[in-house]
Amino acid sequence: MTGLKNYLKDPFLKSMYEEIREAGPIRSISVDITHKCNLRCQGCYFFAEGMERAGKNGDEATFDGFIARELERGTNFVTIVGGEPGLVPDRLRKLHANFRVNVASNGLIPIPLEGLESMPIGVAVWGDHATDAQLRGDGSQDYFSQAMSHYRDDPRAFWYYTVAPGCAHEIESVVGQCVALGQPVLFNYYSDIEERGGVLGYRQGFEQVRAEIDRMIEHYPEWIFTTRYFNDVVTSGRLFDQHWGYEVCTNLSNNYTENLDRLAHGAPGNPHFRAYNADFSSTRRCCTGTERDCASCFDTWEHFSWIMVHMRKHLGSQRDFTHWMTTMYVFYLVNRLVDFDEGMKRLPEIHSRLAAIA
Ligand SMILES: C[S@@+](CC[C@H](N)C(=O)[O-])C[C@H]1O[C@@H](n2cnc3c(N)ncnc32)[C@H](O)[C@@H]1O
Ligand code: SF4
Ligand code: SF4
Repeated sequence: MTGLKNYLKDPFLKSMYEEIREAGPIRSISVDITHKCNLRCQGCYFFAEGMERAGKNGDEATFDGFIARELERGTNFVTIVGGEPGLVPDRLRKLHANFRVNVASNGLIPIPLEGLESMPIGVAVWGDHATDAQLRGDGSQDYFSQAMSHYRDDPRAFWYYTVAPGCAHEIESVVGQCVALGQPVLFNYYSDIEERGGVLGYRQGFEQVRAEIDRMIEHYPEWIFTTRYFNDVVTSGRLFDQHWGYEVCTNLSNNYTENLDRLAHGAPGNPHFRAYNADFSSTRRCCTGTERDCASCFDTWEHFSWIMVHMRKHLGSQRDFTHWMTTMYVFYLVNRLVDFDEGMKRLPEIHSRLAAIA
């Protein structure tokens, strides 16, 4: 740990490190808060993998029992997905009252403020207006505009922008619109689970998307959560000697039979993690899959976890440690586990330091 001591002589790194330590370790799970959804986005992993059938809505008593069991197990952070969480605000309130949370929403059913004042909401957008309308619907409804009007002036919202490999040219316009609302952007990378190909196909690579995201970071350092390092790890699929996939994946349900051998004998993971279906008791392989080919997986949250559990790999140099520390910090910031307003002020320096060591 001598390296660590040296790295922490840098006051910027030290202050981030201390804030994270103060916030404490995360013991996370994900849960499908409902199996129902008002949309059928193209290639949505939830429906592509038949997860809506894997666990149908548990009733309220089952949901309450699930919360009690997870509290007992020591869970302190819940990523809320589905289905569409906006359909079940009372369940959101219950989770929010018991855990630190992050919710993903398609933005079309406004999530009420009451009882949910400090809940981070990742509002989905999949491209500029026409592309978003096409990918998340039949092209006739401008979902991006609807989500913008629902979350305008809502301090809980950030834009969770899923970009397909062939849609890099839209990034500037989408980000410009989010920033004009005074709201930050976290990028996600489209996973073409169903091999739809065309602009969605991952085999063409994310090179243009990566370059365009880097350009947005330079242009709007105060508003972009995604860092250059993170962007590089996801789009290259490389972390030191590891290549992204099931064998190194860190977000595998720890009680799912098919994972047990991998977890006992393979690369280290997140030992607490479970991805719960909407029956609130059964789990699946990982949050975004049951059977899918991991080659199509570019999910942002899973990649955060990959970097975060590998602190040791990042202790070889100040540069590597800066990569790890800033990734940790941004995760805590997006999820409001550290002071959000103070953290937002740090974003430009995070980006400028990463640019200097790129
Ligand atoms: C399954 S959705 C559930 C929450 C909510 N219905 C929504 O759309 O935000 C969770 C997140 O996964 C993203 N997502 C779904 N399918 C995806 C795919 N094939 N590739 C990348 N992201 C995907 C959605 O955009 C959303 O941000
Ligand atoms: S709104 Fe969310 S859950 Fe529904 S289809 Fe789209 S991505 Fe999937
Ligand atoms: S699809 Fe699931 S198991 Fe495969 S790499 Fe992604 S998160 Fe891990």
